[in-house]
Amino acid sequence: MSKASALGLARNTSIISNTLAIEGGRPIRDSYLVFGKPMITEDDKAAVMSTLDSAWIGTGPRAAEFQKLISGYCNSPYAVATNSCTAALHLSLIGAGVQPGDEVIVTPLTFCATANVIVHCGATPVFVDCERATQNINWHKIEQKITRKTKAIICVDMAGRPCDLDEIMEIATRNKVMLIEDAAHALGAEYKGRKVGSIAPLSCFSFYVTKNLTTGEGGMVMTADEELAKKIAIYSLHGLSADAWKRYSDVGFKHYSVQVPGYKYNLTDMQAALGISQFKRIEAMQARRKTIWNIYQEALAGLPIFCPAEPSPDTKHAYHLYTVHLDLDRLVAGRDEIQAALHKENIGTGIHYTAVHNHDYYARTFGYKPSDFPEANWISERTLSLPLAANLSDADVQNVIDAVSKVVNHFAR
Ligand SMILES: Cc1ncc(COP(=O)(O)O)c(C=O)c1O
Repeated sequence: MSKASALGLARNTSIISNTLAIEGGRPIRDSYLVFGKPMITEDDKAAVMSTLDSAWIGTGPRAAEFQKLISGYCNSPYAVATNSCTAALHLSLIGAGVQPGDEVIVTPLTFCATANVIVHCGATPVFVDCERATQNINWHKIEQKITRKTKAIICVDMAGRPCDLDEIMEIATRNKVMLIEDAAHALGAEYKGRKVGSIAPLSCFSFYVTKNLTTGEGGMVMTADEELAKKIAIYSLHGLSADAWKRYSDVGFKHYSVQVPGYKYNLTDMQAALGISQFKRIEAMQARRKTIWNIYQEALAGLPIFCPAEPSPDTKHAYHLYTVHLDLDRLVAGRDEIQAALHKENIGTGIHYTAVHNHDYYARTFGYKPSDFPEANWISERTLSLPLAANLSDADVQNVIDAVSKVVNHFAR
């Protein structure tokens, strides 16, 4: 018996109207399925409420505890909590000593933040195309882009699939450049038996609303390098001397000193309280994501779409996104039309991503054309992420399968 039917998810085509909702038919569901809706429990709410009742709602003991939990989970000695992964990436570049005039190698198939932070440092993003199957940076092409100005490489674990970390780390080490892993999607992922967050010299997580574990907004830098951790922690809070958040604690006022002109990138205790509470369910939430990912993988095979490649056996996927690539040669509609049709069926979807080099600023400033990075461009035009979240019910998952089948079959050549 298939996994889908074992879960009672066999398709019941008789109740599905064949007319698309966009053409006046009955939508697959009555209420809208929001893409990436976070799972917030009563315990999560109570944890935040009790923080509000305490004296610490800014950065304090809960932020410190959350850092400890994530560093223990990843087996990474140091962690610096930040108010976003964007901030974590920016601080990592500062930690790596990236300055105006430097170059940083990065994949174009990522969220704009990964490249924007390079520009924030006054450095130049140098794109290296991704692989179609994994959607991750093509490590074979990295070395040819390394110059005397290259200070760092940022690789991105797209959708939760770890990059080829051994190969990329070897290139980084041999060329004496820093490797920063944008692990925004990859909390819980493993590479050759080691947790993502404990492998690259610097790794950055996101705890944004849609992520595997959320603090509303939030991020974290992971490192095994004590000096880097200290530098990043200082830059994360105005450049104040370490532990400046303790200046108002019950041990009495502590003077602080500004070491460097830092940033206001700290995570609050209100956010950390939510993270700590969510962390108690991390394994269950990851397991549910994996189950849904596998149900989609089986139920959607055979449609004119390319389902994601199976995770490589020496890695553990974090199952952050379930992203299909539409087989446009076998469809009479483009991705945006199909996404709009799914929206009318009351299914929210995402696009991960429009390649960064195709965005106005990057095309205008660096003169990029879409064809400069053909794989990222190919994915940009076809990619569609289906709802994947720990709180989706079996009925929600079935609705997604039915809606995708209905819409894609309608537009099949
Ligand atoms: C790959 C990637 N990098 C960085 C970020 C930025 O994360 P944040 O929203 O926490 O700043 C995101 C956010 O979605 C992302 O997907």
